[in-house]
Amino acid sequence: MEGKRIYLSSPTMHGKEQEFVKEAFDTNWVAPLGPNVNGFEKEMAQYAGIAHAAALSSGTAAIHLALRLLGIGKGDVVFVPSLTFSATCNPVVYENAAPVFIDSERDTWNMSPEALERAYEKYPDPKAVIVVHLYGTPAKLDEIMAICERHGTVLIEDAAESLGSTYKGKHTGTFGKMGIYSFNGNKIITTSGGGMLVSEDEALIGRARFLATQARDPARYYQHSQIGYNYRMSNVVAGIGRGQLLSLEEHKRRKKEIYAQYKEAFADLPQITMNPLNVDGDANCWLSCMTIAEGCGVTPDKVLDVLEQENIEGRPVWKPMHLQPVFAEYDFITVQRQGSVAGDIFERGLCLPSDVKNTEEDMERIIRLVRGVFR
Ligand SMILES: Cc1ncc(COP(=O)(O)O)c(C=O)c1O
Repeated sequence: MEGKRIYLSSPTMHGKEQEFVKEAFDTNWVAPLGPNVNGFEKEMAQYAGIAHAAALSSGTAAIHLALRLLGIGKGDVVFVPSLTFSATCNPVVYENAAPVFIDSERDTWNMSPEALERAYEKYPDPKAVIVVHLYGTPAKLDEIMAICERHGTVLIEDAAESLGSTYKGKHTGTFGKMGIYSFNGNKIITTSGGGMLVSEDEALIGRARFLATQARDPARYYQHSQIGYNYRMSNVVAGIGRGQLLSLEEHKRRKKEIYAQYKEAFADLPQITMNPLNVDGDANCWLSCMTIAEGCGVTPDKVLDVLEQENIEGRPVWKPMHLQPVFAEYDFITVQRQGSVAGDIFERGLCLPSDVKNTEEDMERIIRLVRGVFR
């Protein structure tokens, strides 16, 4: 063990967060509503360039509400990418619907439009498609949206990892009928935990707020005509978010710098390929990832072990959902003759430390250690 720990992606606070939190305390708005919640919703909508936003307790809650708002229920099919975090598809199962996992393409690691098209041959009437912008890289949205439109399927964007990323100049999260963001502790900005549901549709966001506050009917007494949730973001937490939002562009700039630094440092090593960035997008580079060439004798575990020995945090690429024991009963669609793109990326990939607080010395050390594994 040597010196301080270098993190994958840890919270980076700047002081402004505390001012908003202090104001919440000073005015006793320590509640699941208040000026910070309203302010954060307005400022996030403004930042992303979308009309409406509902601040929630997590990104997972936002996905869950999006599915509820679309009336997704028992037996309904929802297409989701296999290569993602389980939070993308857990809410599908909360509603007793059936996720059908779609393989990735190589250009962005996201949902393959070809595999998506193939999925319709077997499941012609899915109730929704959830697209994910993995590690901050926008998916092939033009192709995916065209397929959804042709089949009349609603698109939900899981932009949990891609806040700040744009596709053809427009923010990820604002292309689908609804989009979601996450402010979990490791995200590009954090509120410790939290999420946001966004849409151009005011009625949908209004209903999301209603469902998120226990679905209380507009009566003086407590009356409920539907099942609700306690999914609202607190006014204290929203204060952290308002402060963090002021530094989002700076965090993105730094994350992009880190990615570029790794890319340049490994350019001469044919064994290492950095995760691809969508040529039609501007990624927030939330996590810089690399894959290792097959047959070179180095595994992701080996690299992660070398980093861990030096108190440096890396992480395997998400294990695909179609390979997860808990989702074994659900179908997987690929256009590969053998194996899958998602499985291949998982087997050969890892996430490098991408913390905005990484110093030049930290970066040099990480790069030296990784290069050393391939000598
Ligand atoms: C792709 C993806 N979707 C959804 C989530 C869930 O967000 P949260 O942790 O805020 O519930 C995360 C991150 O945690 C994520 O990486």
